[in-house]
Amino acid sequence: MPSPLVLAIDQGTTSSRAVVYDATTFTPLGAAQQEIEQHYPRDGWVEHEPEDIWYSVARTVREAIAKSGRDPRDVAAIGITNQRETVVAWDRASGRPVYRAIVWQDRRTTDFCRERAADQPWLTAKTGLVLDPYFSGTKLHWLLERTPLLKVVADHGELAVGTIDSFLIWRLTGGAVHATDATNASRTLLFNIHAMQWDTELLRYFGVPLAALPDVKSSVAEFGVTKGLDFLPDGVPIRGVAGDQQAALFGQGCFGPGAAKCTYGTGAFYLLHTGDTAVSSQHKLLTTVAAMTDAKPKYALEGAVFIAGAAVQWLRDGLHLFKSAAEVEQLAKESNPAEPVLFVPGFVGLGAPHWVPEARGVIFGLTRATTAADLGRAALEGVAFQVADLIDAAEKDAKEPPPPAPEEPTPQPPPRREGGTARDASRDSPDVPEIRRSFSPPFREGLGVGSAGAGAVGLLRVDGGMARNDWFLQFQADALGSPLSRAAQSESTALGAAFLAAVGAGLADQSKLGAGGRCDAVRAHAPGRRPRAKARRMAPGRAGGDRVLLGRRVK
Ligand code: G3P
Repeated sequence: MPSPLVLAIDQGTTSSRAVVYDATTFTPLGAAQQEIEQHYPRDGWVEHEPEDIWYSVARTVREAIAKSGRDPRDVAAIGITNQRETVVAWDRASGRPVYRAIVWQDRRTTDFCRERAADQPWLTAKTGLVLDPYFSGTKLHWLLERTPLLKVVADHGELAVGTIDSFLIWRLTGGAVHATDATNASRTLLFNIHAMQWDTELLRYFGVPLAALPDVKSSVAEFGVTKGLDFLPDGVPIRGVAGDQQAALFGQGCFGPGAAKCTYGTGAFYLLHTGDTAVSSQHKLLTTVAAMTDAKPKYALEGAVFIAGAAVQWLRDGLHLFKSAAEVEQLAKESNPAEPVLFVPGFVGLGAPHWVPEARGVIFGLTRATTAADLGRAALEGVAFQVADLIDAAEKDAKEPPPPAPEEPTPQPPPRREGGTARDASRDSPDVPEIRRSFSPPFREGLGVGSAGAGAVGLLRVDGGMARNDWFLQFQADALGSPLSRAAQSESTALGAAFLAAVGAGLADQSKLGAGGRCDAVRAHAPGRRPRAKARRMAPGRAGGDRVLLGRRVK
């Protein structure tokens, strides 16, 4: 009798991947990947064709199963993981999308966010997020406000909206299920992460009707079964769903407080598990929901760098400096360390801890001697510096003494706006719960507070495409002044989705899951040595305003 398989579908920003795993050993038996076309109709706008996404998923699933040499009927469970925040809207009757997917990197709602900046405390208290174009609620507001007919259809329950996972669940189940999981919901600005439900006040604020939204489930749950597909038999259950960063956290075996990972994909995302506590960052990190294997909420602190692998992709496809992304490693090795080039790849604004949607990328310090190799190195360094900023913020959060018992008044919903969508508070919605700000001991230990000395972070687990680049990881370790642990399987995101599905299908026990094999340790040289050396070379006149962009390491 052949061992059961778990199929992980990883729908990312730049590509879709499918991986077939042996459900007992989590050995990948077959994998396939297909890039997604990116559409940039205007400055700051980023869109995907939902049908491209669907066909890429169908094709990669078929190919991955074929490569595994196994029968599609051996797939015992499906796990889905996806680019988060990106929204799709489709007609429930025909299943057809009514607009292109508006991608998480899209900045079209910058003005909306700027005008409502005063509402930030209220929104953060409920959602753990900041008011930034990154998040789904602002994108859905844009879509429904500009198309009055859509709003009417949505109000009548004829329109379905959701993040990519919900669109895929809908398609995989032949339109039978419109559901999402709590990690994806927690990225929308519509979901109360304390009450763990769509929030009436938030829905009114963003003008999104409840009738259009998916049901929210735990990350391990019954998300329906496949129906009417030509690449999978009917009846295969979808048992695990999580946003890609939460899936990577799970795939890295970060199940409890203090465990942290950074995934280097299109962007770079640092997540620190905080257990049962929704920690509120004092340094502009996000509070988000971590993957849940039961109904009990789990939380994480998160920092997002919007452009990481995408910077290398831009050097390849935009500037044509090399043919394959892997070549950047050799270029970095060949670069001249004396060339003072600094590159901040803020193409779509800056995320945590700066939150400047209007920012764009900059390159400083070009000379006549600057080469493609120097630019390649500077791109990698720019990503590493920004990730170091995130970890600085998390360190500061961990070291801060817990604030005194809450004296601050509970943040209030914003007043009604003329012509806007903000409304009075609805009396029936739950009160904003108090956010706990104290750090539990395991969380502090995870950051190395009190053990590794001031300024040190605990062992950071890393994964994703750029984590295969040894030069980059060494630079990252040096920038942090602490070691890194590279996952044995660089695809922690897909592995996390497979873990969730296997747990959901009763094929695996969470307590026995690890990070997919032996990890690789990357030691730091002297703490912060390279960034400081670089900073010294950058005379203030040359570097311009980089201090704000790159945080304390470049002054
Ligand atoms: O929040 C955006 C994130 O989910 C995108 O991930 O892997 O496509 O860079 P990735």
